[in-house]
Amino acid sequence: MLTSPGTADDPSCSPVIRDHMLAPMTSDHLPAVMGIDALCYPIPWPKKAYESELARTEDRLYLVARLQRSPAEAGAQGLDPPRIAGHGGVAFEADEAHITTLTVAPECRGQGVGARLLLALTLAARRHATSLALEVAADNPAAQSLYRRFGLAPVGIQRGYYADMGTSPDAVVMRADNIHHPDYADRLVKIAVELDCQ
Ligand SMILES: CC(C)(COP(=O)(O)OP(=O)(O)OC[C@H]1O[C@@H](n2cnc3c(N)ncnc32)[C@H](O)[C@@H]1OP(=O)(O)O)[C@@H](O)C(=O)NCCC(=O)NCCS
Repeated sequence: MLTSPGTADDPSCSPVIRDHMLAPMTSDHLPAVMGIDALCYPIPWPKKAYESELARTEDRLYLVARLQRSPAEAGAQGLDPPRIAGHGGVAFEADEAHITTLTVAPECRGQGVGARLLLALTLAARRHATSLALEVAADNPAAQSLYRRFGLAPVGIQRGYYADMGTSPDAVVMRADNIHHPDYADRLVKIAVELDCQ
């Protein structure tokens, strides 16, 4: 699932994303979102899947991360207008929140976009659920490293979860229990501070 990580100094991805650049995903974002997916996944989600997820406003949250660049700035500097650098989603299922997708454009990786998206999704998860879980390909060390930073620990393997995806077929199930515990809140504060300093 993971392609080569992007470089933080790639000019197409500067300046660095700030968390206020996160916004709820709308259908207008889908061409950009699906363009990123096409670069990242052998079998990307079809448009219908996104549309049905976006329609579930009561138990889903999808966010996009946009490059920090106003149209005026872009015009003045002769740059492209703001564009989508990544996106992520969370589903609320009873007491558990489930990360459904987290994807950053290859050229925008390694500068905290994924962590910013995951932080916002995790904060939303704390409003709806007591635990946070996800599946990640067994051969995806970058994503697993990011998830460990958020206190998600491996709790099992789902054999064949990604069959026919061209990656390792097995998924690692990762979970953070008790995301309301003060220690977990401290972890999120620490991540937020680190991202602010980045
Ligand atoms: C996983 C992903 C979302 C991370 O996005 P990102 O914007 O690069 O994330 P960040 O910059 O916030 O953090 C990157 C983390 O990956 C780590 N990393 C990057 N490349 C790595 C590698 N080859 N091996 C191990 N860790 C790696 C970085 O060190 C950092 O870890 P840290 O949080 O412990 O410091 C992005 O790599 C991606 O879109 N991958 C393809 C899609 C995917 O696999 N999504 C996950 C589906 S479950």
